[in-house]
Amino acid sequence: MCENCECSKDIQKNSIYLPEVAILKEKKKMTDVDSFFVFELKDRSLGHLPGQFAEISIPGIGEAPISISSPPSDDNTFEMVIRNIGSVTNAIHNLEPGDSVGIRGPFGTSFPMNNLKGENLLFVTGGIGLVPARSAIKYALEHREDYKEITIMFGCKDPSQRLFTDEIEEWKKRDDVNFIETVDTCNPGEWDGNVGVITTLFSKVPNIDPKNTYAIIVGPPIMYKFVIMSLHDLDFSDKRIIVSLERRMKCGVGKCGHCQMDNIYVCQDGAVFYYDDIKHLKEAI
Ligand SMILES: Cc1cc2nc3c(=O)[nH]c(=O)nc-3n(C[C@H](O)[C@H](O)[C@H](O)COP(=O)(O)OP(=O)(O)OC[C@H]3O[C@@H](n4cnc5c(N)ncnc54)[C@H](O)[C@@H]3O)c2cc1C
Ligand code: FES
Repeated sequence: MCENCECSKDIQKNSIYLPEVAILKEKKKMTDVDSFFVFELKDRSLGHLPGQFAEISIPGIGEAPISISSPPSDDNTFEMVIRNIGSVTNAIHNLEPGDSVGIRGPFGTSFPMNNLKGENLLFVTGGIGLVPARSAIKYALEHREDYKEITIMFGCKDPSQRLFTDEIEEWKKRDDVNFIETVDTCNPGEWDGNVGVITTLFSKVPNIDPKNTYAIIVGPPIMYKFVIMSLHDLDFSDKRIIVSLERRMKCGVGKCGHCQMDNIYVCQDGAVFYYDDIKHLKEAI
């Protein structure tokens, strides 16, 4: 209730349902369908943790959950990569710097970066899964002394679908990061790296220590089952496997039921889970 009268102004101001205006500051094409966006909130930083998402809306069109790709920061800007797949995402792709969107969030659970301190990190990312993982990767690199070995695996359909290519080159150059990647297919002469699905990368990283490593998996649904099988072959405990699940979402705040899996709301209880906590759910993987 607001102080001056009995209206519900304050309630509205703090409402999880009320979008705040953010201005598009920068837009850059990454692939034929994916673009990188920098947005800025007027009065505050988004205050997110790695792995969280926000609901982004275009008036008259709709709202979509999108992962936050930048690491936590005190300034008012944040980054997203958005695939042009339908009505909302297409409208966002048609925006120009200076245009505005609505933002609700941040929502959802985050990668448990504090619990992972002192451990080796193994990121296994497929396609657009690199987008939320990048927030945790950049956080870990900003706090490099807190983590032991950092290995990043990235796989995508073909070389034209690679994301963050400039940053990948930087990660490859670092001697405190082991970055390896693969493409499912490529044309002759187009690519001199590994060709094959992401699980083919496991044989190229010797000495992954399952007792001192947390694996963080983010990618298309089909990838999880096979990556988890590879991790089990290496003797990983399910308590050391962290997944970020994507489900159809609407409200983002545990009210509408769109994202429900048994008694779990993925938008609120996830989207980041320890695999051990959700492996019993039939729909999870
Ligand atoms: C937690 C979370 C994080 C996400 N992060 C990102 C991100 O970082 N970048 C990004 O580009 N996308 C992300 N997505 C997916 C994004 O929310 C959807 O692509 C978006 O909602 C599509 O909205 P639209 O109005 O453009 O498409 P619509 O017009 O609603 O649909 C277009 C087509 O895509 C299908 N579709 C729509 N949503 C989904 C879905 N969630 N899963 C499978 N098929 C779907 C529809 O059936 C239809 O065929 C995320 C989703 C979740 C739940
Ligand atoms: S999206 Fe509405 S309950 Fe999860």
